Amino acid sequence: YAAGEGALVPQQRQVLIFFVLLGLSQGGPESVRYSVAEEGEIGSFVASLVRDLGLEVEQLSSRGARVACDDNEKHLRLDLLTGDLLLNEKLDREELCGSVEPCVLHFQIVLENPLQFFRAELHIKDINDHSPTFLDKEILIKISESTTVGTAFLLESAQDLDVGSNSLQNYTVSPNSHFYVKNRDTDDGKIYPELVLHTPLDHEEEPEIRLTLLALDGGSPPRSGTTQVLIKVLDINDNAPEFPQRLYEVQVLEDTPIGSWIITVSAKDLDAGNYGKISYTFFHASEDIRKTFEINSISGEVHLRLHLDFEVTQSYTIIIQATDGGGLSKECSLLVKVIDINDNPPEVTMSSITKIIPENASETLVALFSVRDQDSGENGRIVCSIQDDIPFFLKPTFKNFFTIVSEKALDRESRAEYNITITATDMGTPRLQTQHNITVLVADVNDNAPAFTQASYTLRVRENNSPALHIGSVSATDLDAGIYGELSYSFSHVSRDIRKTFEIHPVSGEVRLKALVDFELIKSYTINIQATDGGGLSGKSTILVSVVDVNDNPPEIVITSLSSPVQENSSPNIVVAVFSLRDQDSGDNGRMACSVQDDLPFLLKPTFKNFYTLVTERPLDRESRAEYNITITATDMGTPRLQTQHNITVLVADVNDNAPAFTQASYTLRVRENNSPALAGAASAGGCSVPEGHLPGHLVDVGGTGTLSHSYQYEVCLAGGTGTSEFKFLKPIIPSFPPPGTEREESHTFLNGFEFN
Ligand SMILES: *[C@@H]1O[C@H](CO)[C@@H](O)[C@H](O)[C@H]1NC(C)=O
Ligand SMILES: *[C@@H]1O[C@H](CO)[C@@H](O)[C@H](O)[C@H]1NC(C)=O
Ligand SMILES: *[C@@H]1O[C@H](CO)[C@@H](O)[C@H](O)[C@H]1NC(C)=O
Ligand SMILES: *[C@@H]1O[C@H](CO)[C@@H](O)[C@H](O)[C@H]1NC(C)=O
Ligand SMILES: *[C@@H]1O[C@H](CO)[C@@H](O)[C@H](O)[C@H]1NC(C)=O
Ligand SMILES: *[C@@H]1O[C@H](CO)[C@@H](O)[C@H](O)[C@H]1NC(C)=O
Repeated sequence: YAAGEGALVPQQRQVLIFFVLLGLSQGGPESVRYSVAEEGEIGSFVASLVRDLGLEVEQLSSRGARVACDDNEKHLRLDLLTGDLLLNEKLDREELCGSVEPCVLHFQIVLENPLQFFRAELHIKDINDHSPTFLDKEILIKISESTTVGTAFLLESAQDLDVGSNSLQNYTVSPNSHFYVKNRDTDDGKIYPELVLHTPLDHEEEPEIRLTLLALDGGSPPRSGTTQVLIKVLDINDNAPEFPQRLYEVQVLEDTPIGSWIITVSAKDLDAGNYGKISYTFFHASEDIRKTFEINSISGEVHLRLHLDFEVTQSYTIIIQATDGGGLSKECSLLVKVIDINDNPPEVTMSSITKIIPENASETLVALFSVRDQDSGENGRIVCSIQDDIPFFLKPTFKNFFTIVSEKALDRESRAEYNITITATDMGTPRLQTQHNITVLVADVNDNAPAFTQASYTLRVRENNSPALHIGSVSATDLDAGIYGELSYSFSHVSRDIRKTFEIHPVSGEVRLKALVDFELIKSYTINIQATDGGGLSGKSTILVSVVDVNDNPPEIVITSLSSPVQENSSPNIVVAVFSLRDQDSGDNGRMACSVQDDLPFLLKPTFKNFYTLVTERPLDRESRAEYNITITATDMGTPRLQTQHNITVLVADVNDNAPAFTQASYTLRVRENNSPALAGAASAGGCSVPEGHLPGHLVDVGGTGTLSHSYQYEVCLAGGTGTSEFKFLKPIIPSFPPPGTEREESHTFLNGFEFN
């Protein structure tokens, strides 16, 4: 052992202070230094005081030497016999000083007689009596697999109560491929183990690693302690999901039903567990995309949510993001191409329609329309047409606009209405067609004058018909419509005479007689007529009225002279009567034939024109026949045949100058049947009663009483034979003939008036 060696400056200072204090009492010597290893046996030798203090062994007992430790513990004892300082007990450095180093035990050697102090210190030297120990049998550390090489992980240090070189010096770790241990010195002189990664970890390969950490102290031989280190290699999301292709492309028919599967995208993630769980979402998808498609977040199946409409959207570019449990993500693009199907028929939009076009306008714009088809390609290509049998044509204008134009001026009168069917057909499959009908009315223009159905009318009347007789009607037509054409008929530039004779109904066109027509006066009329329409246009025609002669006039016989009586025995060819015939009718109606009975000795001789003479054929014989009733019969050739008879009586006469006279104008005599034919009544004159058929008769005078101003003589005879026994006046005897003219007529009338049965 080496006393007093290695004194340190602070200790010297301590000692110095101590000596100052001692000096005050006795001025003591310097402090003596001893050292001893810990854990020495009791009674072990520490130092020889007698030698060190320079005393004799006997002095120790005589001067009452003793050892006093500063802590009052009896760590040491003084062997008074030998003068050696011995250990009174086992010194445990760790107990005495803990980690304080050096471990110094201060004590004094006190000599009481005379009092003398010696200060000494005992350095207790550490022996390696402790092994490093770890508090825990196992240390768990979690290290992410992503940890970079070189990263150090501080481990829990081991404890070693020994100090100095006996204390913990070195940590090592059981051999492995990933870690080594680095000893880290701290400011307080401790050593900590640091586990340093020197090759990368891979959770997928080695999820945990077990190591043994060995702590070594510096003793010789060194002591060690171990603990288990369990390293959990934490999985990190070191793999992002990966799509096998960056772009998916799919074509979908636009009529694909809702809910249909479209495509499945699938990404792979090499990470295990949660980090490998992929969920799919649309990435920054528009509202439209999110409404139209949906993706199953787990399976990656994309389904249709809404009807597609090519006409609205032709394609969708959808970014699909695959995200793993750790939040790593990768995107791919899905291009959904919508395939158009011909689901839209063409549309026809009328921009303007002229519903009524005037008939005389040519190339009139009738309609403007546009066509469109929301489909695309052939499905949207439109062919447009109208019927080809109508006078309209279709004219493309610009883009999809068309006009319908009338080809030429139309004629309302031939066709007033056209139904135009616009047919728009697309070229898709199947072809879709839209029709649109428009009706075009042709407006009337007063381009037609009324036209009579005939250029002229020939009407026949009979003459003598009653007025107001409907003799016929005319009619005109006007092809125009409305005021159609409203016609009114009238005479045009006609004489007053015609106006008096005819009338035309303005509406019906009936022509009527207003007055009698007489063929014998006017045989025909030419009447100009016109029909006027509401627009002032007029059409003309003529009516030729020919009066139809009616055999309305019988022949007339006018006796110009009559010679009676005719003397008997006169020579033939004595003119008995002269008469004329006439017939006011014309033609056959006026042609006449004239005759007398052919059993009479008279001949009828035409003279000139319509004059005839009746002459005797031969001499007459009064005794054989005294009287001839000659019936002149005049017949016309008309239909019906009209006949006029005129009776003349020719007497064959003697001379007779005494004529009896009646006192009365007439007598009515009654004769009983079976009476003698001699007398039937009383006549104031010398009456006669001549049986019927007896010739000659008796003459009577008709006196000038009453209203008659003249007296006449008549030959009378008894009429009625045995039945009624009436007188009949036969012939006036005197005077012969009144002057020609009216008197002759009167005479005739007179005669008739007095004829009675
Ligand atoms: C710790 O121990 C190891 C293995 O025994 C040795 O190789 C290394 O040099 C020692 N380190 C120190 C600082 O003593
Ligand atoms: C069509 O007829 C009307 C009425 O008669 C006339 O005013 C117009 O000028 C005519 N138009 C043509 C184009 O002939
Ligand atoms: C036009 O169509 C209408 C309605 O369908 C019909 O009443 C009319 O007779 C048609 N006209 C022609 C000229 O076809
Ligand atoms: C158009 O008119 C045609 C012919 O009259 C008819 O067959 C068709 O149904 C009509 N179309 C429409 C849409 O009225
Ligand atoms: C002639 O006519 C008259 C009168 O009608 C008649 O009395 C007379 O007997 C007629 N004479 C003959 C011969 O027929
Ligand atoms: C003329 O005499 C005939 C024959 O007697 C008789 O039938 C006829 O009626 C007479 N005509 C006239 C006009 O007296």
